[in-house]
This record gives sequence, C-alpha cells and structure tokens, in this order.
Amino acid sequence: MRTATTKAEVRAAVAEARRAGKRIALVPTMGYLHEGHLSLLDRARAGADWVAMSIFVNPLQFGPTEDLSRYPRDLERDLRLAGGRGTDLVFTPPVEEMYSAGEQKVFVLPDASLEDHLDGASRPGHFRGVLTVVAKLFGIFAPDLAVFGQKDLQQALLIRRMVADLDMPLEIDVAPIVRESDGLAMSSRNVYLSAEERARALALSRAVEACRARFAAGETDGDALRAVVRSALDVPGVEVDYAEVVDPATLDAVKVAAPGSVCAVAARMGRTRLIDNAILGA
Ligand code: PAJ
Repeated sequence: MRTATTKAEVRAAVAEARRAGKRIALVPTMGYLHEGHLSLLDRARAGADWVAMSIFVNPLQFGPTEDLSRYPRDLERDLRLAGGRGTDLVFTPPVEEMYSAGEQKVFVLPDASLEDHLDGASRPGHFRGVLTVVAKLFGIFAPDLAVFGQKDLQQALLIRRMVADLDMPLEIDVAPIVRESDGLAMSSRNVYLSAEERARALALSRAVEACRARFAAGETDGDALRAVVRSALDVPGVEVDYAEVVDPATLDAVKVAAPGSVCAVAARMGRTRLIDNAILGA
C-alpha cells in the first residue's frame, strides 16, 4: 500500500493507475477507522480495480464548540487496517495541503431545503464544510466511484445531490450501517463514551429498531412512529437532539410512512453526540 501526503503525489499515482486501465474508487474518511469504514473499502474493491482512502479531519466541517481538537486519531493503526483490506493508496494530507494558509474563497453550499433538517439544523455550516472537502477530494482523485455510509444519511443525500446538480462525473455508492454486536452503530466517536454512556447510547439503536419493528407490524402514522422513537430515547442521561421519521429524498417529516422512509435520531450522552438511522421496510 502506498501513502501520499500531497495532492501532486495522489495525481501521479492516479494517473499511473489510469494508464493501466484501472477503474478508480475513493473512500473519504476522517480516520480512527472501524469496521464501518473498512466495509466501505470492501464495496469500493467490489466496484473498482484501484482503491484509495483519504484520512483527513476536516476543520471546515466542525463548529466552534465541536470536537475538532479532541477528534480521535491513530494514523499508524489506520494504515495497518486499511492495508489489511487491500487498499492501494491512503492520502493523509496535512491541513495546509488542503487549505493553503486558510485561503479557501469558494465553498459548496447545500440548498436550505435540504440543509435545514436533522444534523444540518443542529450543526450550522457543517454540510458546507463536508461538501466543500468532498468536492476537493473528487477534484484531486477524479474517481469513477466514491463510497459513503448510510450511517450519515443526510451527508450521503447531499453528496448525491452535489454530484447530480454539479454534473460531477462519478458514481456514488452508499453502504449499510455496520453495528457492534449489541446494535450500537460503529462510530469513531464511540471511543469518547464512558462505560455508563456506552450503555445509555444503546437507546439510539433500540429507538430506530423499535420504529422499524412498529412499521413492519403495520403502523404507518408518522406521529405514532415518532412517539415510539421518543419513548425509546426517554432514558436518563440521554439528551435527544432529534427523533424523526423522514422522507428519504426531501428529509421532510412524513405524515404517513412508506417503505423507504427513514427513522433518524441524534442524541448526546455527556459531551458526545451520536447519530443513527434505519430505513423502514428494508
Ligand atoms: P467519517 O465520520 O470518518 O466517516 C467516513 C465514512 O464512513 C462516511 O461515509 C460514513 O458514513 C461512513 N461510516 C461511518 N460509520 C459507519 C458505520 N457504522 N457503518 C458504515 N459506514 C460508516 O463522514 C465523514 O467521515 C466526513 O464527513 C467525510 C465524508 C470524510 C468528509 O470529511
């Protein structure tokens, strides 16, 4: 496995792979890899011949009160894990390589109709940061395929829309959520949780699972399903940010749920904010 810290090195490696006729896939991450990230590498490998991962904790997508400075990092371990999954190249740029001297004057902005929901509503500017860095990574790699996780539902939707609306010539694949054996959705942020918070965090996966089960049992009323989610999240020490059942294309709250509607939750356990979701009828 090769590593690169500059855009020039990436472009040279990609050009070489292209000359060899290879289809290029990119898996963007912020590192501190877990099995969820690694599952994206497997999907990338299934859909391409040459697989790259980027590991970059993107300052642009963190709010002033968020966890940028304490975001977990372990590059050595990440490289070992990515190498073990047959990755061809890992790109680990320093911040200055991506944003030279803070000189970024053009950004990618989502429309308010898709931003002002769920995480976009609680994290102003977050998706501007995500879309801008992902657009930059697409510009650096010019991949044929990029793989993202359903875990970040709104992010995946906005990236699909960016690619469609800005006519970016690549395919987007969205992979299912990988969970711990007790149901907790894997996340780099799980490492922040104390033992008590880790136990309380199970309320999120239980809530989306309860919603899915109630829908499967025949309940389609949006408010009734939201009530199921809220009651499963009603646990001491769990501070709910949102508990929604939404349309997967507009992210608007549904009056009547249908197969494909998404139950999405976010909550804080202490200082740690976690998200989870489930597709109904899936
Ligand atoms: P990060 O949180 O590191 O996640 C990288 C990718 O892994 C995202 O596409 C995310 O949805 C996916 N992922 C995370 N947990 C997962 C799980 N349990 N199962 C399956 N996939 C999972 O998302 C980001 O980084 C950043 O916003 C990024 C897109 C890299 C832009 O900076």
